[in-house]
Amino acid sequence: MPRRLVMLMTDKMIPHRRLCVALLAVLGLASAASEVISPLPPMGFNNWARYMDALNETLFVETTDAMLAKGLLKAGYNRINLDDCWSPRERLANGSMTWDTDKFPQGLPWLASYIKAKGFIPGIYTDAGTLSCAGYPGAYGYEEIDAKDFADWGFEFVKLDGCNMPTGTEDEYRKVYGKWHEILSKMDNPMVFSESAPAYFAEAANLTNWYKVMSWVPEFGQLARHSRDTLVWNSTLYWPDITGWDSILFNYGQEVRLGRFQRPGYFNDPDFLNVDHFDYTLDERRSHFALWASFSAPLILSTDVLSLTDEEVKYLTNADIIAVDQDPLVQQASLVSQSVDWDVLTKSLSNGDRLLTILNKGSTAADLTVPWTHIGLVTNTRHTPSKLSVKDLWTGRSETIDLKRSKRFNVKNIPPHGTAIFRISNPALGSSVQTVPTGVIFNTYSLSCLTDSSSRGGLITWTNCTALDSQIWRVREDGTLSSLADEKRCLVEKDGRIQSGDCSKHSKWDYFLSGALINRDSKKCLTETQDAGAFAISDACGYMTNEQVVALPVGVTVKSLADDDSVFDLRMNGA
Ligand SMILES: *[C@@H]1O[C@H](CO)[C@@H](O)[C@H](O)[C@H]1NC(C)=O
Ligand SMILES: *[C@@H]1O[C@H](CO)[C@@H](O)[C@H](O)[C@H]1NC(C)=O
Ligand SMILES: *[C@@H]1O[C@H](CO)[C@@H](O)[C@H](O)[C@H]1NC(C)=O
Ligand SMILES: *[C@@H]1O[C@H](CO)[C@@H](O)[C@H](O)[C@H]1NC(C)=O
Ligand SMILES: *[C@@H]1O[C@H](CO)[C@@H](O)[C@H](O)[C@H]1NC(C)=O
Repeated sequence: MPRRLVMLMTDKMIPHRRLCVALLAVLGLASAASEVISPLPPMGFNNWARYMDALNETLFVETTDAMLAKGLLKAGYNRINLDDCWSPRERLANGSMTWDTDKFPQGLPWLASYIKAKGFIPGIYTDAGTLSCAGYPGAYGYEEIDAKDFADWGFEFVKLDGCNMPTGTEDEYRKVYGKWHEILSKMDNPMVFSESAPAYFAEAANLTNWYKVMSWVPEFGQLARHSRDTLVWNSTLYWPDITGWDSILFNYGQEVRLGRFQRPGYFNDPDFLNVDHFDYTLDERRSHFALWASFSAPLILSTDVLSLTDEEVKYLTNADIIAVDQDPLVQQASLVSQSVDWDVLTKSLSNGDRLLTILNKGSTAADLTVPWTHIGLVTNTRHTPSKLSVKDLWTGRSETIDLKRSKRFNVKNIPPHGTAIFRISNPALGSSVQTVPTGVIFNTYSLSCLTDSSSRGGLITWTNCTALDSQIWRVREDGTLSSLADEKRCLVEKDGRIQSGDCSKHSKWDYFLSGALINRDSKKCLTETQDAGAFAISDACGYMTNEQVVALPVGVTVKSLADDDSVFDLRMNGA
């Protein structure tokens, strides 16, 4: 084990820095380019969480063969990516990187062509700084040489980690990742670019820089590691106090804050599926997979593929759930509601269906009832279907529900830490499930939910999330918002206070990539004061401040930062 790795592992406060994450890059016009490169979330294998520095040719050859034999390639897992520690400690005299010949006796070009011959796409790792996280040469100052060598060797995906940057400022990360973007964009076959930069700004007392980094990674690449590494296999050595389940919920909890950034060609990356980590129940493993799929997140396995059990292969190749992950809309499911024991998520699918995902965070099996309105269904209009068809994606069984008789959906016996996942369709031929973006509005720093306290004279407050109707908001296309507690009233801005009031005045809002929710009349931002239980106030818009960055339900139109430069101080953007 590299000394550097051991040293980093003692640093409990910033667990993600011990580990390696990485990236790729591409094109001139970022979004247009990324659509060409990787419109759907990548799926495949990476060695890191399972093997760390103990990678070699045999491991990759055997893993490639096993992915094929076990049907994982057929199910969509078509990438085989190397992580840190594939090189010697020094570059060649001419500046190029080379591979460790003890680990890779036939060389990386041979391995890349082996991987391709079996039908997979090979990927490689490097670091944006002067050294990788494990202390191997970093690419800082060698970007052109390394990108060219990686391409010459046959790699088509690059993960760019973010350890050991010369100064570590946000500005420096942006310049270096931007440089990689430029280089990779000009290549004949632009590589997929996986960016680890955001992880180095996560969990701060002031999240402004994290949000800033998140706002440029989609311009440069196709996926970005936003927070901690998934636990490595034998994590008791390094994190005795974090269970496997805590780790899944941690990354899940970071992902839900960032839904506004995801779009076709760019994916938030909550890190690997470490399937054979010793500290999971089967239900927890299945939850890990179903939640990541609900997010349309990358599905990269970091596990001993040869030893995957039939049961594990069966859930990992569940075609219905993979179709949710790989759905062309690639919406990141957002929170409908949150409470101590339950999270409910939803998103739309490209054929007009709606997803319902229910996570039981509690420690016993339990039932949950979800009103159809919670997942955004428009009721009592001519668009309301009379029946819904509901498919349980774990069992494959469908049932038809008569909406006239049943306004709610009852889900029975969801196991502890288990996730139920349903695809809901309108059984009328060629019809979709008509929905409005619906769910919680929460501050992504404090995690407080915006609450319609109608009983308190129309006041709107920030409180703990409880899953009451007063915290579930509908965001209409015209920019008005109402809670399900009182759909006749709207969120309005009046004299610096946010209230529940007349839908015709001061009631229209715009949501921005910055995370700001801005009143169209006053140009002021929805703001949370520091005091718990504070009334929701409006204030002049700052630049991605802890108090003003909020998450809205998926499906709400997200305006770019530049769409309203009258309210933002764009100088902060470094342009
Ligand atoms: C290759 O790596 C695997 C996994 O770390 C290890 O079990 C195996 O002994 C290594 N083989 C060689 C030839 O180094
Ligand atoms: C350095 O030498 C290696 C091995 O001969 C070669 O493959 C590589 O292209 C060279 N790099 C540069 C920058 O000339
Ligand atoms: C948070 O960080 C940003 C960017 O570094 C800075 O401009 C801002 O002043 C900080 N806010 C507070 C409250 O410290
Ligand atoms: C992790 O490694 C330690 C030390 O080698 C060993 O005692 C422990 O049993 C291992 N734990 C697991 C879960 O493999
Ligand atoms: C809100 O949640 C926090 C953290 O779970 C808890 O400590 C606090 O007591 C809760 N506040 C209220 C008013 O329930």
